[in-house]
Amino acid sequence: MNFTHAITRKPGNSFPYGITTAALGKPDLELALTQHNQYCADLVQLGVQVDVLPALELFPDSVFVEDVAIVEPDFAVLTSPGAIPRRDEAQEMLPVLELHFKRIYQIEGNATLDGGDICKVDDVYYLGLSARTNLEGVQQLAAILNLFGYRSVLIDIRPLESVLHLKSAVNYLGDHTMLLDPRLAKLDEFADFNRLIVPLEEAYAANCLRINDGVLVPFGFPQTLELVTNAGYDAMLLDVSEYRKMDGGLSCLSLRW
Ligand code: GLY
Repeated sequence: MNFTHAITRKPGNSFPYGITTAALGKPDLELALTQHNQYCADLVQLGVQVDVLPALELFPDSVFVEDVAIVEPDFAVLTSPGAIPRRDEAQEMLPVLELHFKRIYQIEGNATLDGGDICKVDDVYYLGLSARTNLEGVQQLAAILNLFGYRSVLIDIRPLESVLHLKSAVNYLGDHTMLLDPRLAKLDEFADFNRLIVPLEEAYAANCLRINDGVLVPFGFPQTLELVTNAGYDAMLLDVSEYRKMDGGLSCLSLRW
């Protein structure tokens, strides 16, 4: 879980008009920018070089850069986001990826795939089948990952209607430890891991983010903070309230490699 680089994108004035199912009100843009600046500063503090891209007003959800690509030091995959208003957002990332990666693949045709559904666990990728990511999407990605020696495991999250992406509910903290939404904690696929299970009332906080020696934890979820801290991690609290209002979390805000 060693990251040296990250890409983020500033939220634009259109951010409050993005897609959301959270009935938490409109985000405050000024506060969203402050939280974004703090997020980038935290990544830098954890030893990551951060490339901050300018806002894309045409795409209100484009601050959630994680959804438009899968990145590895050796290659990148441009996705095809499952939400129609976000479909063309991925192409905006292509010139940025070309600056960093020699080999770039693309999810094509009728396949859809959101990066938020893709969770890397050492040399295995967990691929979420969701309302955003279809079977063709995970099959195309699995074939690309296979070229580089990565195995893929499919996790169907479609029965969990309120869970947008796999990483809304499942995140790898390294050290063979998974942070899990309780509704997915009993799956056989996670049986061999140390499982940190967040309480259902803190399900949002299953989206914590391990970066090098630290774990970013969303502010306002004390039981999850205790869980992560008691497991021996250096937790860094970050308020992402304005992104939660738009169904986004800590991992959604960056691409990391
Ligand atoms: N608002 C983030 C998404 O729906 O993709």
